Amino acid sequence: MPADAVFAAEAVTGSRKPDAILVVNGMHRSFGGLAAVDVGHLEVQRGVITALIGPNGAGKTTLFNLLTGFDRPDGGSSTFDGRPVTGLPPHRIARAGMIRTFQLTKALAKMSVLDNMMLAAPHQRGERIVYAPLRSAWRHQERDVEERAGSLLEKFGLADLRDDYAATLSGGQRKLLEMARVLMAEPKMVLLDEPMAGVNPALVESLLHHVRELRDEGLTVLFVEHDMDVVMGISDWVVCMGEGRVISEGRRRSWPPTKR
Ligand SMILES: Nc1ncnc2c1ncn2[C@@H]1O[C@H](COP(=O)(O)OP(=O)(O)OP(=O)(O)O)[C@@H](O)[C@H]1O
Ligand SMILES: [Mg+2]
Repeated sequence: MPADAVFAAEAVTGSRKPDAILVVNGMHRSFGGLAAVDVGHLEVQRGVITALIGPNGAGKTTLFNLLTGFDRPDGGSSTFDGRPVTGLPPHRIARAGMIRTFQLTKALAKMSVLDNMMLAAPHQRGERIVYAPLRSAWRHQERDVEERAGSLLEKFGLADLRDDYAATLSGGQRKLLEMARVLMAEPKMVLLDEPMAGVNPALVESLLHHVRELRDEGLTVLFVEHDMDVVMGISDWVVCMGEGRVISEGRRRSWPPTKR
């Protein structure tokens, strides 16, 4: 289905999408008396870039946490690619194909850039106790993983830094590394929490280019962003949250989206 199929969807809160990969129903999470997330119905179209916007404290990161298993909702559910995922731990949701990045990058500072990448590859035989002593059983696989890591680092302009400690990277380079790491797991959908924050303008262009490329390769992207130039520049669809709720959504070209 072409990416612009999403434009057939109605620009009203909770509208059906032609081919939703993620569906959220009645999802609720409170902290004390505060309803951090209270989303009635939300569908995210497959194969497009959806921006999630809203003021500080709107519940964007909390929603990401709930969707990816890093936090549990008090009520409600979500399905990913047709499967219920509510209550599953993060690694199970990641294995189903939905992977997120963090608002504050989590690269492992005392490991090399390459090791950070290799650690992100799923199902590695050498990590399993029964295979660990049998180097022949995982050598080939390790080589494949290293090759894939190398080509992703190349693509993200980090190849020269592969043997450096992640701690030595700039903030922007860490954001690039985090995005490259996510791709090691070959996800169907990525959730990016402020991928451009703190990145210098030269690298922002490069990150934007990569995000578009992911979409063009068929990945679904949901990203949180405060910079409206970035939002207008790359998103196909925009969802706006406020005080835990989705308050409006619509196609980027007809901004501002219709309110309900
Ligand atoms: N673990 C927590 N304990 C208590 N309150 C929390 C917790 N996590 C989030 N909150 C509160 O929930 C609300 C939503 O926070 P959240 O971090 O999801 O907002 P956000 O939209 O991501 O904001 P920002 O744009 O600043 O990143 C805020 O009022 C926040 O203080
Ligand atoms: Mg946040």
